[in-house]
This record gives sequence, structure tokens and C-alpha cells, in this order.
Amino acid sequence: MPQLARLFFYEALASLALMCGIIAYKGKRTNAAEIVLKGLKKLEYRGYDSWGVAVRSNHTKQISIYKRTGKIGELNLKNIKLPVGNLAMAHSRWATHGGVTQKNAHPHASCGNRIVVIHNGIIENFLALKKELQKKGHKFISETDTEVAAHLIEEYLKGLRVEGRGLRVQKLKEAVQKALKRMEGRSAFLVMSTDCDAIVAARRGSPLIIGKGQDGEYFIASDIPAFLQYTNRVMYLDDNEMVVLDGGHEFYNVSDGKSVKKRIVEIHWKPEQAEKGRFPHFMIKEIMEQKETIHRAINQEEKLIMRVADSINKAFGTYLVGCGTAGKVCMAASYLFSKIAKKHINVEFGSEFPNFHHFIKNRSLLIAVSQSGETADTLEAMEVARKKGAKLMTIVNVEGSSMDRMADLAIHIKAGPEKAVASTKATTSQLAILTLLAYACAGKLNEGRKVLVEAASQINDMLNPRYEKYISMLARKIKHVESMYVIGRGMNFPMALESAIKLQEVSYIHAEGFAGGELKHGPIALISQGTPCIVLVANDETRSDVISNAIEIKARGGFIIGVAPQREEVFDYWIRVPDVGNASPIVNIIPVQLLAYQLAVLRKNNPDMPRNLAKSVTVK
Ligand code: AGP
Repeated sequence: MPQLARLFFYEALASLALMCGIIAYKGKRTNAAEIVLKGLKKLEYRGYDSWGVAVRSNHTKQISIYKRTGKIGELNLKNIKLPVGNLAMAHSRWATHGGVTQKNAHPHASCGNRIVVIHNGIIENFLALKKELQKKGHKFISETDTEVAAHLIEEYLKGLRVEGRGLRVQKLKEAVQKALKRMEGRSAFLVMSTDCDAIVAARRGSPLIIGKGQDGEYFIASDIPAFLQYTNRVMYLDDNEMVVLDGGHEFYNVSDGKSVKKRIVEIHWKPEQAEKGRFPHFMIKEIMEQKETIHRAINQEEKLIMRVADSINKAFGTYLVGCGTAGKVCMAASYLFSKIAKKHINVEFGSEFPNFHHFIKNRSLLIAVSQSGETADTLEAMEVARKKGAKLMTIVNVEGSSMDRMADLAIHIKAGPEKAVASTKATTSQLAILTLLAYACAGKLNEGRKVLVEAASQINDMLNPRYEKYISMLARKIKHVESMYVIGRGMNFPMALESAIKLQEVSYIHAEGFAGGELKHGPIALISQGTPCIVLVANDETRSDVISNAIEIKARGGFIIGVAPQREEVFDYWIRVPDVGNASPIVNIIPVQLLAYQLAVLRKNNPDMPRNLAKSVTVK
């Protein structure tokens, strides 16, 4: 393939790879198909445009596959007519570039359905492998790279019809292992076979979690909520590892086939936390949860906070690293460390961090900030820092995630599952932890706690129905605008950038954030009659300057929406926030989250599943 075409092709595949959902069941229950399809529905928030399920019949030992484009909808399994079986797997796929066809939906099978595969990720060398397999007589049905995996595994089993269940499982494991060694790229695979009632899963770069239920019952999923109603006891598959679930579990290293020991970890999420409950969308539910999540976040063991603070104080350079919203949180934190602890902290986006590896020494400290703990760019930054011998820490929501396991020390933000693509409660919890750390570095942990406890209770009062109504009224006023701008200064400048992300991702309105002082160096040229501009104000030394910036914008026709503790004359519209000192970034971002949500709903966008985006970006 010419290089450019190949590039576009991989880009397209990469975008497919981002959002797929995976769930499998192996156990005593005979309604495996129903279990995995219900689990798949719990992953719907990831977005998808086709789906499929494979079940191994207890009666015939054959594998039935059912796949469709569109949404799963209300499940009526009677219409689907899947066999009774206690081994099944399901997959949801999101294609952004063509290819939304039943044939391309997963699962994919080898010739004669002997091997069935579901897959997240990209098999980069699939074209070469496909040609090789075609020469050997394999017939391909779909246009996907995944189908290659099914044929390749089958190829390694060709002519092998071994007797004895144990041996058949062993041969399947070996065939999968051989195939994995041939396939390039970041992926997660699940493999079933008509040969035996085992399931084999492998990971290289794309997360897979194994849930251990009662009596030899197992689940495998890309996301814990898919099986949380059955078990909270999980094991994590690491990169270059595979697992065989066969009534028990055996983990192996893919390279040498040697057994790997795994620890069972208990997840502290409750199944109902991963449901929408009385809310129409996850996004609004998660915004409202901020009434309690800040309290949970700061309720940390003093010893842990002090250990991290001590490491920051002693490090020869601390780097806060995150992507997207988490990156903006890191930026805000650097202002807080400067102001509260008189400390300089370096901030880098995950994707840019490798460019600074020259400065990383074994006494450097990298703190990865993330909701999912699976963002590929942030993980790469950690890998780069690790190679240089730096200390690794993380502030993360998903316990047991790759970052959590990779870090020397982790602070869990305890926000509970965040399912809407737009991060809300995880953002403010990360901000709360970093604020606390800044105080701890200054030897003022108790003062920090006081500020944050006060902010948390003020947020509880702020998020009332009247407040929501007021913001929804504003959303109706501006729902048709083409562009919006957000400005802030000091610790609210990164929040202006974060506000823009929130507005972009769910409302699809063109939004940009600026440092107030930068306006006159260019961006003010964008302001025309009626352009909405949100001004984030803190009651601190930046207040009068940012208000002056608002006046400059208003003089050019801008419509000023002030997010501030007090009303200012320049505001056309005032969104009141509590005066909470250094917790200002936390309270100022919440009304913008609400506004973005309301705009999304008014503009008939699905706020939980914005176009082209994935909750967790596990590819580079
Ligand atoms: C947030 O609204 C975005 N969806 C996105 O920028 C996100 O913050 C980013 O991808 C990082 O994710 P993480 O926190 O899971 O690492």
C-alpha cells in the first residue's frame, strides 16, 4: 500500500480501535449469551455502531455468531435465537470511517468457524499476513484486520485433532501464542474455539480485566462496569500476557509461555454507581455527584499525602503529566504549587513529555494524572521517565489500572466510575487532591483540608435545581452561537482552557480558552457583536485584571458571562460561585460543565457519547 494510503488506513483503524467494548463469560450458567449482551449494554457509553456475540453451544459444541449494525436496543433474546451455552463473548465496534457493515462487525471466524475472535486495536501487519494466509487457502469474508487473527490461529491448529480436553486447551493456547508473536500493533484479543470450552485472552496495549465470580465463574472485559453486578474481584492482564480460562485461570507470558502469578484485587465500586439512576445522562449524574466526590477525594490517609508531598519537596524536578482535561488540571496545579508552596512544578501533556526526556534524572519525579489510568500517551510518558530511573506516582481514578500498577505510589481520587466521555467529577477530584498536596508541601495540610471541606460543602449548596434552571436559561440564549471564548487568569487560566474542552466535546460549538492578558496580543480580533465570552473570576490578585479584560471584550461587542463570587458591572449574565479562595478552579469549572451539558441537550447531541471521541484513549 502506498505510504500515504497506509497512513490514512491506520488512522481509520486507530479510530475504530478506540472505542470498542469487550465482554466474555465462562462459567456454570447456561445463559452466557444473555450475560454478555447485558454486559455489552453497560459499555454502551463508549459509543458503537455495530455489535456482535458468539456462543458455544453446550449441545453441538459449535459456535454461533450473531451480529448487527446499529444499537443493541431492548434485548429480546427470543428473537436472536442463540444456543444454550456457558461460554460466550460479545463486542461493540465504532467505525468513524465507512465499514459499518454486519460483515465487519465482530466476532470474526476462521474458515468453518473453528476459531472465533473479538479484538480491540490494530494488527499493523495484517495485509502481509492476509496475503500469506490466502495463499494457504484461507477465505476472508470481512475487510477487517481482526479476521486475520482467527485464520492465523486456525492455521497453527491445522491438522491437529488431539484427543483429551486438557490437551486441546493446551494446543489452543499454543496456537494463540504463536499467532500473537506474528501480529504487530497494540491490541486485546479474546479467542474461542470449537475444540474446547476454554477461552483465551491476550493483551498488548489495550486493557483487559478478568473478573472472578463464584464457583469457577469468570468474566473478561475491557471495562469493569460490564461485569460489576456479578463480581468486584478482579485480576489485571498486563502487556504481553495471556490468560486461559478453563474452569480455573492460568496466566502466561506471551514471549516465553511461562506461567505468571496474579493477585486478586477487590474493586470498591458499587454496581449502582455505574448506572444512570434517575438521570437522563451520565454526564449530568456525574456533575451532580460533585456534591460528594470532593469530600471523598480529600478523605485520604495523612501518611500517604505527606509521603507524596515529601517526594515532591525532595525531587530534583517534579513533572505533572496528563492529557486533555487531566493536562489542564496539571496546569492549574502548577499555579497552586507556586502560590501555596512557592514551588515550581513542570507540566507536560503526555504526548509531549518524551521531548523533555533530556532533563529527566533518577531524582526526578513524574506524577501522572488520569481518570482512566489507561491513556496511552500518559503511559508512554511514564515509560520514558522510568527508563531514566525517575520516581513514578499517579493521581488516578480507576484502581488497578495500568498507571496505578506502574506507579511507585498512587493516590486514588475515589470518584467512582466516570462513564460520560466528558470528564467532570474526576476533574474536580484531581484538582482537590493536587490542591491538598500543594498545602501539604507547604507544611499546611490542615489549612488545605479546611479550604477544601468548605469548598465541598459550598458545592453541595450550589448544585441545586434553581442553579441548574438558571444555567439552562442561559444555554437557551446562546445555543445557536457559532463561537464562544473563555478567559481566566492565574489558576483560572487553565480552567478557561478546560472550559473550552467541555464546550467543544459535547456542544460542538467552536470554543477557545485564553489567558486574559493574552487577548490584546491577538485573540481579541475574534470578538464581534454578541460573541459570548465566559470570564472566570477568582476573588484574588487576578480579579481586577480579568475584569479589565472583560471590559475590553465588552467594548468590542462581546456578551459577557461572568462566573464569579460577586456581581461585576461588566457582566451581562452572572453565574454565582462561592468564594472559596484557592479552591476557585474547582468551583469555577462546575457551572461551565453544566452549561456545556445543557447546550449539548438543546442542540440534540448525546452528551455521554460525543462524536469522534472515546472515554479512554488507549492508542497513541
Ligand atoms: C475529558 O473531558 C476528555 N474526554 C479527555 O480530554 C480526557 O481528559 C483525556 O483523554 C485524558 O483521559 P484520562 O484522564 O483517562 O487519562
